[in-house]
Amino acid sequence: MASSLSTRPWHVNPSARSWRAGTTIDDPGTFHRSMNGYRASDLVELDGVAATLGIGRVLVKDESDRFGLPAFKALGASWAIARTVTSRLALPRVPASFDDLRAAVAEHRGLTLVTATDGNHGRAVARVASWLGLSSRVYIPGGLSDAARNGITAEGAELIESDSIYDDVVRLAAESTAGRADELLVQDTSWPGYEDVPQWIVDGYSTLFTEADAQLTELGAMTFDLVVVPTGVGSLLQSAIEHYRGRSRWHPGVLGVEPVTAACVTLSRDAGEIVSVDTSTPTRMAGLNCGTPSSIAWPALRDGADATIGVTDDEAVSASRQLATFGISSGPCGAASLAGLRALVGDDSRRLALGLGPDSVVVLISTESLAANPLPADDDSSSS
Ligand SMILES: Cc1ncc(COP(=O)(O)O)c(C=O)c1O
Repeated sequence: MASSLSTRPWHVNPSARSWRAGTTIDDPGTFHRSMNGYRASDLVELDGVAATLGIGRVLVKDESDRFGLPAFKALGASWAIARTVTSRLALPRVPASFDDLRAAVAEHRGLTLVTATDGNHGRAVARVASWLGLSSRVYIPGGLSDAARNGITAEGAELIESDSIYDDVVRLAAESTAGRADELLVQDTSWPGYEDVPQWIVDGYSTLFTEADAQLTELGAMTFDLVVVPTGVGSLLQSAIEHYRGRSRWHPGVLGVEPVTAACVTLSRDAGEIVSVDTSTPTRMAGLNCGTPSSIAWPALRDGADATIGVTDDEAVSASRQLATFGISSGPCGAASLAGLRALVGDDSRRLALGLGPDSVVVLISTESLAANPLPADDDSSSS
């Protein structure tokens, strides 16, 4: 149900915990571990923060350095590229390792990987393309930061800039590849008729949740009560839901966090169907500035997320600053998870709805580093 108590986007689904994911996936873990530079990202405890929030433990899954890139996205891009190349080249099986994939495409250097992005995904696709010796072409909406644009071109991608919003550049990228046997669209959102690649991307993200599960066990956690996920089109949130309502031994609540100006998942949950929101209002949370939930994510987003909540730019920037005091580099998208937790526990009815108490263990996914999405040097709009 939607909250009528305030204007903060908020949607809670009390029956989400009993929803079960129907899909089983090929575990991408072995493939990821074969990639150069693979290591499990850190799970870092925020000492003292849990007490101030009235909960037991707060841990951050720090995705600020994944395969040398400043966001988690290469987990999805690499696995989806492996799967889509397998399908396009009619390989007998998915290459077991990244080296095998590189060998498989060696005869097909004319292939171009194409995507649209609001930053991190495009850079990840371009990086994997360059590792494979392939070309890439990346479409971006207006208003992307210099850091994001430069990051993509530094990977060798052809950059196509547009004044349009994210949803429109996704369409542009898709149209550009129509009927092209030499081009592969690697998009991290889906729509009717384009579903396989986005699902492989979602499957690829699962590695970070699998890592977190093992790390929680190593840290001696006896319970795991909530995972908090920054949310754009909802593919990462879908991955969390499918993992924690399926494969994982843990069954935490799942909270998605969106910019208040781009709360397409929360507003779709309110409406009971996919709706689009206008994302022309700029937000510091550039990677979350998406107007339409991914169609394949929708059943999980609607039925399997305990709650979704909106946060402001100031709240995300403040959370980013607080994470910096713990030595965690987290841009506004990454820090949205801490901002969302703060907004949640700041309201008794919301805290109650998620069942959080003094012993609860919460894992925040910090999806990007500050380098991916820097705060302007003179930004003092908020402080922790
Ligand atoms: C840093 C960061 N965090 C979170 C997300 C959200 O992922 P999704 O669009 O799958 O919801 C993105 C997506 O681009 C991102 O770049």
